[in-house]
Amino acid sequence: MKDFKDKVAFITGGGSGAGFGQAQIFSEAGCKVVIADVRQDNLDRAMEHFKRENADVHPIRLDVTDRAAYIAAADETERVYGTPPQILIQTAGVNAFGPAEASTYEDYDWIVGVNLGGVINGMVTFVPRMIRAGLGGHIVAVASLGGLGPCSTTAPYSCAKAAVINLMETYYEALKPYGIGVTCFCPGNMNTNIHEASLTRPENLRNSGYYESPEALEGYRKHNARGMDIRDVGRAILESIRQGIVISIPYENREDILRGEMRRMIDYCTPEGMARLKEQKPPTEDNEELRSLMEAAQLGWSKAKGDIDWVETDRRYTK
Ligand code: NAI
Repeated sequence: MKDFKDKVAFITGGGSGAGFGQAQIFSEAGCKVVIADVRQDNLDRAMEHFKRENADVHPIRLDVTDRAAYIAAADETERVYGTPPQILIQTAGVNAFGPAEASTYEDYDWIVGVNLGGVINGMVTFVPRMIRAGLGGHIVAVASLGGLGPCSTTAPYSCAKAAVINLMETYYEALKPYGIGVTCFCPGNMNTNIHEASLTRPENLRNSGYYESPEALEGYRKHNARGMDIRDVGRAILESIRQGIVISIPYENREDILRGEMRRMIDYCTPEGMARLKEQKPPTEDNEELRSLMEAAQLGWSKAKGDIDWVETDRRYTK
């Protein structure tokens, strides 16, 4: 897709962070934009901005895990703008981090439910409508570098994002005949409000194995504040659509990043490779980003709750 004028763009998680940045950039490129978000306060704040800009943006309150609500949101989009979207950007996501061995059923149900289940719901709701409309288009899902390179404290998040990458590649092949492109966006750190994710955690899925105090989350917020600007995120996605990029990693050294991840996978499958991996030293790079992560960890971020007694003491938050 090269021309964005008058296209209808439906953006999940559009009320905050990366989704809000995308809504700004696609609106400025001439799109009519639907922002769909589970948080009404985020939608209201975003709409204050778009009203000031006189932009054609329509808010819809939507929990992406609710299939009936998703169908209703698709119907509403067609009522408001006359067609299904030609651009679907699935950005809504949540995270919570802690040792894999501390994870509860509820950690998996919530994090996988939103990050993977939400994208599946978006595909099943919109793909048939977009094909039937016959207008072509482009579908984006926001995964993460964490879906390519998992770490021991990101199990539910990384497995969901890895599955999203695989899912989007599948749809890339499937949707070619219909003139619908597919991009999976895999960023690292972004300057957003994801440290507030647990505010959207449903009551019945509250039981977590991870330690999440306000101080620990404040440490994580400071780390995120060093991340990519949300308007740059929007620009990177628009450019990826324009160029028809399937796996979009918004950094100059993206090929090296991917080679590193693939190298590890290749090493896993031979005895020589396993020996190479064992010799590898952990990164000792002294940079601000690593320091802010260490500071957050000292406040308990990404540790297990103290009462989870099977987790090693230094992986639990015990003051
Ligand atoms: P954010 O918290 O600022 O924005 C996420 C938005 O999604 C919020 O407005 C939230 O209300 C909404 N949301 C959460 N659950 C929802 C649900 N069930 N249904 C509908 N909306 C829901 O966070 P951010 O960082 O902008 O997140 C966007 C995406 O970027 C997520 O998929 C996240 O996993 C991904 N990501 C974020 C990174 C970061 O460093 N912030 C790094 C890599 C990926």
